[in-house]
Amino acid sequence: MNINGNSDTHIGVIREAFGYQSRFTGSTMVFKIDFPVTDGRGFPYMMKDVALLTANGIRVVIVPGCKERIDSVLLKYNIVSSYSGGDRITAGNAMPFVEMAAFHVATRYMTALSASRVDAVTGNFVRARGRGVVDGVDMEHTGTVDKIFVRALGRILDLGMVPILPCIGWSPAGKPYNVPSDEIAVAVASSLNAAKLFIVTAGDNMKDSGLTLPNHTRVTPDGRIIRLNPHETKEILLLNQNGEETDGGKKKCADMLRFALSASESGVERVHIIDGLEEGSILNELFTNLGSGTMLYADEYESIRGIRNSDIPDILHIMEPLVRQDILIRRGAEDVQKRKDDYVVYVIDGSVHACGALHDLGDGQAELAALAADKAYSSMNIGRRIVYYLIDKARNLGMRRVLVFTTKTQDWFELLGFREVEIESVPPPRRESYNYKRMSKIFALDL
Ligand SMILES: CC(C)(COP(=O)(O)OP(=O)(O)OC[C@H]1O[C@@H](n2cnc3c(N)ncnc32)[C@H](O)[C@@H]1OP(=O)(O)O)[C@@H](O)C(=O)NCCC(=O)NCCS
Repeated sequence: MNINGNSDTHIGVIREAFGYQSRFTGSTMVFKIDFPVTDGRGFPYMMKDVALLTANGIRVVIVPGCKERIDSVLLKYNIVSSYSGGDRITAGNAMPFVEMAAFHVATRYMTALSASRVDAVTGNFVRARGRGVVDGVDMEHTGTVDKIFVRALGRILDLGMVPILPCIGWSPAGKPYNVPSDEIAVAVASSLNAAKLFIVTAGDNMKDSGLTLPNHTRVTPDGRIIRLNPHETKEILLLNQNGEETDGGKKKCADMLRFALSASESGVERVHIIDGLEEGSILNELFTNLGSGTMLYADEYESIRGIRNSDIPDILHIMEPLVRQDILIRRGAEDVQKRKDDYVVYVIDGSVHACGALHDLGDGQAELAALAADKAYSSMNIGRRIVYYLIDKARNLGMRRVLVFTTKTQDWFELLGFREVEIESVPPPRRESYNYKRMSKIFALDL
């Protein structure tokens, strides 16, 4: 945020990044990376970014997806795979080739990380068992996660090394199974209590153009879904259940949401779906509030709450550019402090991005004032949510009417149901302090 309060400047980004960096040191993050990303031109740069994370004390675990690589190896050796319910049935004659493909992909990570002087380890960290016969179909060498060897992984992470888990698990008798990497990623993230699971896909952004979304979904102006909680995710899956068979894009988005939801339900607090072909997408998603992908969060991520003294500089900072444009009147720290109980802030991941206040004017009327939203976060319903929150507060206090004095925002308040009223209907003390030089219009909402 610069002196004018715009947080889309470099300095704003640096502040956000430092805030996150100190919070993430020592935490574990799991990256499930689809094969087309590994195969893409930007892969070495992505691994450099991963190296930066490890250099800053983040414990990184990588689960490479290798479906497309397995497909091409099997094709080369004329082995045809059958599928059941979308899962590959790994036949005995295919298994050596599956292992070869999986370890070949893991080696690419070792190579790329070596170039950034990060030590990586591929190992038998997954105990698996066969899926057995499912709905009358023998899944042969396709397995499921039985157990993740958490202590072994922990020791490797303590040494600052990066464990890489290919899509192979072994039974206690040493029999290898082909285990879906999505399943391994969820199991590893939940067993290690990872702070985050990243689902790194190739070129897929979760956009409103591909899915039908409920009105309250938070999207960027270009339509990217920014964040969802598990309830909202289920709502979207329900809304889009028809049409997955015919619309490949919709199916892919829904599959990713289901994957993210299963991780969230297994206890992973934050799951991020990002486009691995976009340069810097991991750093962008990790170190900025708006990110570059879609986050599914199970913990409290954003909220409206009353203010603390430490919020006052942030409130003044958000208001400053609006004061300069004469949209808001200037308030000092003491003004805010004096009426502290009237104020609320909108907090996203620990930082303040909007504010508003509700002042009791007497006679059952309240004034909604000091409403300001960080410009970098405009058009994400934040302003509206603060207004609704303050209207609810007024209702709960038994008020009959909420007023607002505005010079530039009348259209917006009209959209929210406010109607212009005369100064005569304003309770006397506030009427007497009306600024005839400013000539604000007065709008009211009857409760
Ligand atoms: C008004 C304000 C709080 C809205 O914040 P916000 O988080 O962007 O609000 P929302 O996302 O709920 O609404 C955004 C929509 O309102 C529209 N909008 C914003 N300001 C507007 C205005 N002055 N007049 C008409 N429409 C406006 C936006 O274009 C956007 O439209 P869209 O949804 O079609 O894209 C914010 O623009 C702001 O801080 N304005 C300056 C301060 C101010 O006017 N305060 C009110 C006096 S107390």
